[in-house]
Amino acid sequence: MTFDLVIRNADVATASERWQGDIGITAGRIAALGIALPAGRQEIDAGGRLVTPGGVDAHCHLDQPTSDGSKMADDFLTGTRSAACGGTTTVIPFACQMKGQSLVDAVADYHHRAEGKAAVDYAFHLIVSDPTPAVLRDELPRLVAEGCTSVKLYMTYDDMKLDDRQILDLLAAARREGVFTMIHAENADCIAWLADALVGAGLTAPRYHAHARPMLVEREATHRAIALAELADVPVLIVHVSGREAVAQIREAQGLGLKIYAETCPQYLFLTEDDLGGEGFEGAKCICSPPPRDKANQQAIWNGLDNGTFQVLSSDHAPFSMGPDGKAVAGADAPFTQVPNGIPGLETRLPLVMTHGVLAGRIDIHTFVALTSTNPARLYGLFPRKGTIAVGADADLVVWDTDLDRTVRNADLHHAVDYTPYEGQAIRAWPRITLCRGRAVWREGQYLGEAGFGRFLPCDRPQPAAVRGRGHRGPLWTA
Ligand code: URP
Ligand code: ZN
Ligand code: ZN
Repeated sequence: MTFDLVIRNADVATASERWQGDIGITAGRIAALGIALPAGRQEIDAGGRLVTPGGVDAHCHLDQPTSDGSKMADDFLTGTRSAACGGTTTVIPFACQMKGQSLVDAVADYHHRAEGKAAVDYAFHLIVSDPTPAVLRDELPRLVAEGCTSVKLYMTYDDMKLDDRQILDLLAAARREGVFTMIHAENADCIAWLADALVGAGLTAPRYHAHARPMLVEREATHRAIALAELADVPVLIVHVSGREAVAQIREAQGLGLKIYAETCPQYLFLTEDDLGGEGFEGAKCICSPPPRDKANQQAIWNGLDNGTFQVLSSDHAPFSMGPDGKAVAGADAPFTQVPNGIPGLETRLPLVMTHGVLAGRIDIHTFVALTSTNPARLYGLFPRKGTIAVGADADLVVWDTDLDRTVRNADLHHAVDYTPYEGQAIRAWPRITLCRGRAVWREGQYLGEAGFGRFLPCDRPQPAAVRGRGHRGPLWTA
């Protein structure tokens, strides 16, 4: 047998194993793993370098319609380009239903936006902002059959939020259809009350965004989200968890055997509230929700990554440039309440966490792979095609350089956003080569991808029970 491509002398790390040898690839899939495999039509000598599964970024926003006149800087082309250059080979952005809109129409529009543009593979989560009986009874099952098997709901943002009754209706439908639910947990009324008081007192600079969204509002909503999930008896994942008090809620629920999963993001490991700045608009670069906290909360997140509280580490890439299409849509001196929320991070997610997590000894390499690739693939119904290095899996691979001495510079990145919040942060690791289905999309500093190469991935029913963080006990999916 002649392989299309053989990667030789790889130091292979998966979520559970580590071994040295060769990877044979045919027709975009892994055909053999072994030592001294036969020749390939092409060969790559990994030279003993670390090789991991391609990243699965299960929380990013690309070309998502907004309701405030802003426009996301990244579409499927620039977003997936930057994913490829940072070692991510599957992205799962959100087909977002606006209130009053059909969910099926929102998905059709999103397919249209992705068509012919993606450089790496992609699937869709759904965002449900209007859970009418027709949406839950007729549209959701149809979309599940088409491969959209996960849904995000919001407890905050006026144009997105659901009340508790609506959340229960959606969770019940999710249980019935075998859909996995992601929850943005912040208390909307507390935020509005605090924001009104701050703006009323003239405290409008970006840094007051953090004052309007203290840890308490996340803690309360996390607690409530867990209670609603318990009542509906359905697994849920709390997205973008920012600090200790939310972690404590999640850990307690997991300890009780509840089916609670959790995601965090690089902004809660590498940014703090201080990055929201002084009185100028510069701090708008780091306005995201929940906001970055402080060093002690960063440590609580690292602890949660290491001890199994978190199953997923995503970027929550939400790409708004600093100009009038983006962060300054309401003006460069607009109050923080009118600044679009979100920061870019698709390309820097894996290098930052490899550097400051694995190479710094905070998490081991298997935890890194589990959090950034294997677990999201399992949770969202893409495993074993994605998320591992195994015979039959797609040949989505990252060959790493792990002895670099660099800093993050936006000028080196491949997204279309005009800044990175991580400018100047130290980096020791970066993908040397990224392969998506056996094709090099990034190699030694060169983007080699092609618009339209990336395929839509219909997701199977999610497999949360197959993901057991060390925080979990017992069976996790009873629906
Ligand atoms: O601030 C954030 N996180 N923006 C993106 C949208 C979301 O809530 O995930
Ligand atoms: Zn969110
Ligand atoms: Zn998000």
